[in-house]
Amino acid sequence: MAAAREHFGSRLGFILAAAGSAVGIGNLVSFPVAATKSGGGAFLVVYAIFVFFVCLPVMMAELALGRKSDKDPVGAYRQMSGNSRMWHIPGWLALITPFMIAVFYLVVTVWVLGYLVEIVMGNLDQLTTEGYFTQFINSPLVFVFLVILMLMINGILALGVKDGIERAAKTLMPMLFVMLVLLVIFVLTRENAVLGVKYYLIPDFGKIDASVVSKAMAQAFFSLSLGMGIMITYGSYMKKHDSIPGSARAVAVTDTLVAFIAGLLILPSIFHFNPQIDPADLSDSSAGMIFLFLPKIFLALQDSVGYFGASAFAAVFFFLVLVAALTSLVSIIEVPLATLRDERGMERKKAIYTVGAVQFVLAIGCAVSFGMVDWFTNLTHIAGQGKSFFDLIELVFYDTILPLNGLLICLFVIYKWKRVNLDRELQDGDPTFAGSFSQKYVNFSLGTFIPLILFLVFVNTVALKFFGINLLDLI
Ligand code: PHE
Repeated sequence: MAAAREHFGSRLGFILAAAGSAVGIGNLVSFPVAATKSGGGAFLVVYAIFVFFVCLPVMMAELALGRKSDKDPVGAYRQMSGNSRMWHIPGWLALITPFMIAVFYLVVTVWVLGYLVEIVMGNLDQLTTEGYFTQFINSPLVFVFLVILMLMINGILALGVKDGIERAAKTLMPMLFVMLVLLVIFVLTRENAVLGVKYYLIPDFGKIDASVVSKAMAQAFFSLSLGMGIMITYGSYMKKHDSIPGSARAVAVTDTLVAFIAGLLILPSIFHFNPQIDPADLSDSSAGMIFLFLPKIFLALQDSVGYFGASAFAAVFFFLVLVAALTSLVSIIEVPLATLRDERGMERKKAIYTVGAVQFVLAIGCAVSFGMVDWFTNLTHIAGQGKSFFDLIELVFYDTILPLNGLLICLFVIYKWKRVNLDRELQDGDPTFAGSFSQKYVNFSLGTFIPLILFLVFVNTVALKFFGINLLDLI
């Protein structure tokens, strides 16, 4: 058995580390893009409902399972399921999923790092030239940045839970928040910014349809880092008598607040760039937004603050995205590390080398999926669409298995581990939880409609992405 289990030093440390996991590219870019395309404030309302009424109970369940078992996800499912072999499967899924999601998230973060370096070197104008992105992601520089990024992440992880993960979160998260707010204040003083604010805050409920609702659900689930074993693992590092419900609420509020504030940055910037813009014309993909559109928006700031000012603004924004992605990657890579340590008794350093080596190879596979190597680029066809290695990982693990993992955790906690045990763990450190509305709600929802919603998301994704059938059209 390895040394005594590591723990976070304080409740605030845990909250910041979990918020660091939750706040990622999803908040700073995907959320504003989705809100822009899908009814502005109306999307926000639907999203917030999913965060607090569907995702928050799942987060509590993951944290409780982790803390009670004191184990990584594989160990947690094994220990709490007794001898039932069937229940070992979700444990393995909760290990493989973060492992693979980390791989494609690493590659996107590498591009963010590359763009940041270019901007700092004074090349913001080049980033806006036609074809730059394709050329950049296919250049050998990507491998250099991959090595640098992996050294940064694993350097933090090597210091352990308290001195690495927690300390990084305590330094980086408040900084991220302050810099984000400063950027927003700056943007709001630009010409036509108010048009963006109006567009964002005046809800257009006409845009809300079944597919927008399903998008909001998937976005909320991903944004809170659920279904990836992260909260099970972080739960196992929580102190015994800290309130799980209270901490989970703090994480969900922080995560949603950052997403909301990021919207106040992106939309006014878009309208400053072009007051006549129809946001419906913008790209649907976050990658399209970050790497193709945002550099143009930032460059346009040079009319009022000069090229240096525009570059400084762009650099701060890309730095924020990098920091947000870094703390998310730290949390997701900690999951396989915890498994190797708990299940195999491996030393932290050895686990880091083992996981890092495999992830490095897979990340290279992803990085060459955009034209560099034909086999990875044109790997397969699914539902009539060509898929690269990168696409395949995203499709299988992010789109499909994530909601399945969520469904399984609900069913496991309520029907196998049992409600009383969940209740007991949630009350440990939070005596007011017993008998509260919150307790009844968590108890009821986790056993009924939350797994149902996750099941529907899962079925719909499989039908749509693997068979090309949109079930939502049938509604
Ligand atoms: N919550 C992250 C985001 O919004 C998702 C994530 C977590 C991704 C952990 C990777 C690792 O981007």
